Amino acid sequence: MSEKTKVILDVDTGSDDAIAMMLALLCPRLEVLGITTVNGNLPVSNTTENTLRVVELLNAQIPVYLGCAAPLVSELLPQRHLRSAPLSVVTNGKTVCYHREYLTELPAATTKPQPRSAVCYLIDTLLASQGDITIVAVAPLTNLAVAMRADPRIVKKIKRLVIMGGGHLQSNVTSAAEFNFWKDPEAAQIVLQSGCDILLVPLDATHRAYAGAAESRFLRQLHTPVGDVAASLLDFSIEAYNAMEPLDCAPANTAPLHDALAVCAVIEPQVLGNVQFRRVDVDFSGGVCDGMAVIDRRMCTDKPANVHIALDCDRERFIRLLLDTLASAK
Ligand code: RIB
Ligand code: CA
Repeated sequence: MSEKTKVILDVDTGSDDAIAMMLALLCPRLEVLGITTVNGNLPVSNTTENTLRVVELLNAQIPVYLGCAAPLVSELLPQRHLRSAPLSVVTNGKTVCYHREYLTELPAATTKPQPRSAVCYLIDTLLASQGDITIVAVAPLTNLAVAMRADPRIVKKIKRLVIMGGGHLQSNVTSAAEFNFWKDPEAAQIVLQSGCDILLVPLDATHRAYAGAAESRFLRQLHTPVGDVAASLLDFSIEAYNAMEPLDCAPANTAPLHDALAVCAVIEPQVLGNVQFRRVDVDFSGGVCDGMAVIDRRMCTDKPANVHIALDCDRERFIRLLLDTLASAK
């Protein structure tokens, strides 16, 4: 077997982050060195507790590092961050939301995060490395932006940075922006302009990486803790997307597994399609396009391209890799 790919995951565990983590921790082709958590879907205390719960489910001895509790600056102005997409709705007397405070499918964690902060862990680990670590960031990019500002030397030590974020013809949290970039636009712009080798997996790809009832049934018939938890998280997400965010590129009764696609892109890059080398900037002006990923598609432009962005995905390949890997759990 070829050498494992060393990865660090940066997460804001929520439902789809949890499925992405299970995939990464179970995949024999990846060596997860550590997991950093950040404020995003939930406060960082919640994203950290949920991350610990998933690590314990997999009985994985992976260190978890608590990260930034707030975006760099975007929440300092009360009138900024006016999301136009709901966080929850009440349907048939039941509150439906994207991410519950805690992954209640799993028991409270018995382990704790490491004493070092996520930012210090990133800096220490990357500087001590041979430049052979891939970072998979599926959350607001606050941790990475702070680490890059604190010690710019880490940029040259990151082998590759795979980011779930942004959108070209797709958005979610506002008419212009995707959540991870919108939550901390300044951090996203710092990271995208860092000079790292970046693969961006935006909503144009992840909205096509959807799973539905068939995948949920497959997971449940595994009769394993991983299968049951993944099916429950998927069912919960399907309910949320049906109620709050029906997609124009996915059938009803499905949910996009955003973060799992970013992990799959490290394992099997062919799951992505229409990958282009483009200039991408993030608007942080605080206006109607705040947090928007602005992709320059002009044939001649004065700004050099800075990311490889995937605008499509091979859903069947993605689902096969995801289910095969989750099915490997005992
Ligand atoms: O916009 C999708 C992203 O926002 C995913 O990472 C999901 O977990 C949420 O954080
Ligand atoms: Ca996420």
